[in-house]
Amino acid sequence: SLPPVIAIDGPSASGKGSVAERVASHFGFHYLDSGALYRLLAYAAHHQNIAWSDAAKVASIAADMHISFAHGEVLLDGLQVSAQIRSEQMGKGASEVAVHPEVRTALLQTQRNFRQAPGLVGDGRDIGSVIFPDACLKIFLTAAVETRAQRRYDQLLQRGERADYAAILADLQQRDLRDSQRVAAPLKQLPDAILLDTTDKNIEQAVAIVVEAFKKGL
Ligand code: C5P
Repeated sequence: SLPPVIAIDGPSASGKGSVAERVASHFGFHYLDSGALYRLLAYAAHHQNIAWSDAAKVASIAADMHISFAHGEVLLDGLQVSAQIRSEQMGKGASEVAVHPEVRTALLQTQRNFRQAPGLVGDGRDIGSVIFPDACLKIFLTAAVETRAQRRYDQLLQRGERADYAAILADLQQRDLRDSQRVAAPLKQLPDAILLDTTDKNIEQAVAIVVEAFKKGL
């Protein structure tokens, strides 16, 4: 039988990455950061002077990308690009390349290959709907958009970067809209997903809820 999958989907800056990574390490499972794949693709396209709107060209480079994850770092063709793909610009680029169905198809098998024993925790927008519809646990992780904007703002300041709260909030609202209104694999809460609203919860509390939900399903 196939290794179990815990799918954690939700909007940008909801904390799903931090939660997913900790749940994975709790159970000793593999971790798939699917947003990183879209960010990598936006980054690769940018560096090859390919427009994010060019579906066919972006999809073709998706097939050739050599991606690896090592010690929490993302490598593109063997080069460390973790910091570069975390920028707001690449977040925007990711959400632009992600609207193309052919791009999503090009990344489908790459994502499914992460399913290896003893199990996988995957986070993104369509992990529970498209990538692993048979996931044994599906979580819709979200928080109020103002809370998410505040968290991202704090994060940028901590990194010593400049940040503008109003701009971050507007960008998140735009990204939510693009991710939830697109035709291909839109972000939405599935009927079989557990809603986890972290507006008034910290990461540890959210992790504990997911860990308990998984154990209960065993
Ligand atoms: O989660 P993260 O902010 O890194 O994702 C960046 C963008 O990639 C999202 O705004 C979304 O448009 C896209 N994405 C997606 N499907 C996924 C993961 C990310 O469309 N499974």
